[in-house]
Amino acid sequence: MNTNTTPQEAARSTPGWWTEAVIYQIYPRSFADSDGDGIGDLPGITARLDHLAELGVDAVWLSPFYPSPQADAGYDVADYRDVEPLFGKLSDADRLIAEAKSRGLRTIVDLVPNHTSSAHVWFQAALAAAPGSGERQRYVFRDGLGPAGDEPPNDWQSVFGGPAWTRVTESDGRPGQWYLHLFDTAQPDLNWDNPEVRAEFLDVLRFWLDRGVDGFRVDVAHGLVKQADLANWEEPQEILSGQEVDKPRPPMWDQDGVHEIYREWRRVLDSYDGERILVAEAWVEPAERLARYVRPDEMHQAFNFEFLLAAWTAPAQYAVVTRSLEATEAVGAPTTWVLSNHDVVRHASRLGLPIGTPRPNGIGADDPQPDAALGLRRARAATLLMLALPGSAYLYQGEELGLPEHTTLADEVRQDPTYHRTGGAQRGRDGCRVPIPWEADAPSYGFGPTDASWLPQPTSWAEYALDRQRGVPGSTYELYRTALRLRREHQLGRGTLRWLESPDEVLAFANGPLTVLTNFGATPLPLPAGAELLHTSAPLDTDGHLPTDTTAWLHTP
Ligand code: NOJ
Repeated sequence: MNTNTTPQEAARSTPGWWTEAVIYQIYPRSFADSDGDGIGDLPGITARLDHLAELGVDAVWLSPFYPSPQADAGYDVADYRDVEPLFGKLSDADRLIAEAKSRGLRTIVDLVPNHTSSAHVWFQAALAAAPGSGERQRYVFRDGLGPAGDEPPNDWQSVFGGPAWTRVTESDGRPGQWYLHLFDTAQPDLNWDNPEVRAEFLDVLRFWLDRGVDGFRVDVAHGLVKQADLANWEEPQEILSGQEVDKPRPPMWDQDGVHEIYREWRRVLDSYDGERILVAEAWVEPAERLARYVRPDEMHQAFNFEFLLAAWTAPAQYAVVTRSLEATEAVGAPTTWVLSNHDVVRHASRLGLPIGTPRPNGIGADDPQPDAALGLRRARAATLLMLALPGSAYLYQGEELGLPEHTTLADEVRQDPTYHRTGGAQRGRDGCRVPIPWEADAPSYGFGPTDASWLPQPTSWAEYALDRQRGVPGSTYELYRTALRLRREHQLGRGTLRWLESPDEVLAFANGPLTVLTNFGATPLPLPAGAELLHTSAPLDTDGHLPTDTTAWLHTP
């Protein structure tokens, strides 16, 4: 290796970089605010890129930063080829991509093809145009049922709560057709049977590929094509629920027709230099069904939400890891691993709830509160388990600080449409989206130059700030940094997993030269004779045994 080459730069030129990459998710609203308006922005991200290089990740994935009324925090896109003024300018995106590249970091942007914002010019044109017009055919408009057409065309529910259809007022002032929105009313679903829609997104892909991005995270990748008859589906929708194995497939998710779209996109990506990737956000189960999205001529990766949802027990973790590896190996794709993102309760809090608690959609002050110390202990163990697995791993901003969910946000400050559309029954996702702490003693903990923060930060967050953890042995930040360095040195991402014999409440496997042990049980576990401890999520006990809820990386003779 050239001595001037950083490990990340070396990885950039590695074929199949994505098969083993650690990809860090940035939620632009909440990462770093350069102008003090309380909302993170692209110049803020650029100014903090050294943190990511130092942490040792390979790539960043940016949640949407496009012009948007922010009805769903940017997942309502009004213009796919520009930057939301709150976040900066197109030139700021160019600079961010270039600055990331100069540090050996790849950039993945978010693509939202299932729906646009209702502020998109296409939807505005559709509202102004007549039923049956070309403008309406870019979306899913239908006449209502009943003699007056005042009942929705079918019984589908929005993922965010309430009906999935909204009635429009026609230009003559009369109540008119209905349009489909699987999410918020401000997110009308596109009609992917329309060639114009397909052509538009091919062009959007090229727009960002030409600007140098290394790939796309594809939002709601399992939703673009709907069953042609829009058959009724009485089940309520729940974000991130996944498809139950023993139930028929819902008419709005995981239709076979989506795959042709991704084959066409793959051909576009493959026509560019380097290895540009597509990552599916598809809440599809079982793992074999999800693996269809990552067949050789489709996407490169799909988020493994089954792993994220698995209970913190040895049998559940064993089962999910085994199943995930088998399903992706069958199609020759790498497995991915993820524990947190901007849609779920952060794993440092989720794992502090009693085992077996159904995954909550947000936590509020009146809800049972997680055990913070237990949650963090398990989160650190889960992270070391995840980072030792072969494949690619996703991190969500702040998890490297051990950041918990904000579980006592005042209801008045909640912004997630889920909260409002369910009348507060679902707390929603704001608690994992709170701006992250950088410096303990700075205004907004260094998120920005002022105290402003679009969601309030808990007063207890000084202890999680990066500057309180950098260089501090045993801190969560140093735990991640060491894990990422060892993962790279031992090439764990491209390794092979071999299960080892272990007691019932212990998970034990080998990956290359490493032995990995996670103790889920109450009984401390003696280490194998002669083992050299490389890394551990918590100190060994005074007998040198591995305590409960701890993962260790070892060299064994
Ligand atoms: C999945 C995204 O991750 C989520 O934040 C968003 O609300 C929905 N898709 C709708 O775009």
